[in-house]
Amino acid sequence: MLAIVDAADLDLVVYRYPSDWVEHFGDLARRRANVIHADTVVYYRRLVAPVSARTDRTTHSGRWRLAGGGDQPAVAALVRACFAGYRNHYAAAPGLATVDVVEGYVEWALSHLDSEDGLLVIELDANDQAIAFAAVGLGDDPEIALAAVHPSRRGAGVYHDLLDVVAEELSDRGCSHVWISTQVHNSTPIRAWTRSEFTFEFAVQTVHLWRAGPPSMPTR
Ligand SMILES: CC(C)(COP(=O)(O)OP(=O)(O)OC[C@H]1O[C@@H](n2cnc3c(N)ncnc32)[C@H](O)[C@@H]1OP(=O)(O)O)[C@@H](O)C(=O)NCCC(=O)NCCS
Repeated sequence: MLAIVDAADLDLVVYRYPSDWVEHFGDLARRRANVIHADTVVYYRRLVAPVSARTDRTTHSGRWRLAGGGDQPAVAALVRACFAGYRNHYAAAPGLATVDVVEGYVEWALSHLDSEDGLLVIELDANDQAIAFAAVGLGDDPEIALAAVHPSRRGAGVYHDLLDVVAEELSDRGCSHVWISTQVHNSTPIRAWTRSEFTFEFAVQTVHLWRAGPPSMPTR
């Protein structure tokens, strides 16, 4: 892996490895001066009941639909509101601590709109305003890539409903399970996943491998 990194013409490589490789970070740090441990990501999985096994198809209290191209501005505004100030692994590097990741999340969420291998679910309030979204990657291993609830609508079970809606939609599409992940300190969604029949499966470590050191960090 380090040979590949060395051959690549990149200032920064974001590298993830399984957390049970407990000796791996020490090994990397001995071989490379400019390695930063950036975060730990936990992965949870929920089995999705087959359509035939479901007795209640309206478990959620909210109104929802799949988003289409016309929803782009509303979804972009929702993502910006939901993730304002959110800090992901890029904040671990001194020179990137102030990088605003929100526009990246907007782009990521919108990439699931009108896509063959993804879908975007939105929950609506009584005025048809989008108050929550889930961007879902399809395929053999479906995954909720990004999901959130508008800050003004939190603490009322909207997220719990959203997770049920996604499970129902995937069940209709013949899927057997769905993955979801976040940083290990993001306790609110993790508690919600546990309440929503997700179980912890594994964790990965994120490290930054810098060619010459992060922007404001002197090279050792
Ligand atoms: C994580 C997130 C989606 C949760 O949304 P939410 O709709 O507030 O979630 P819920 O309402 O289902 O649960 C939140 C809390 O409200 C509580 N709650 C739910 N329904 C409630 C009700 N009717 N009355 C009072 N409290 C309630 C839950 O018990 C939970 O409490 P806890 O945090 O102590 O466990 C939201 O905080 C968010 O968008 N965060 C930023 C984005 C993010 O981190 N996304 C996840 C990773 S992609």
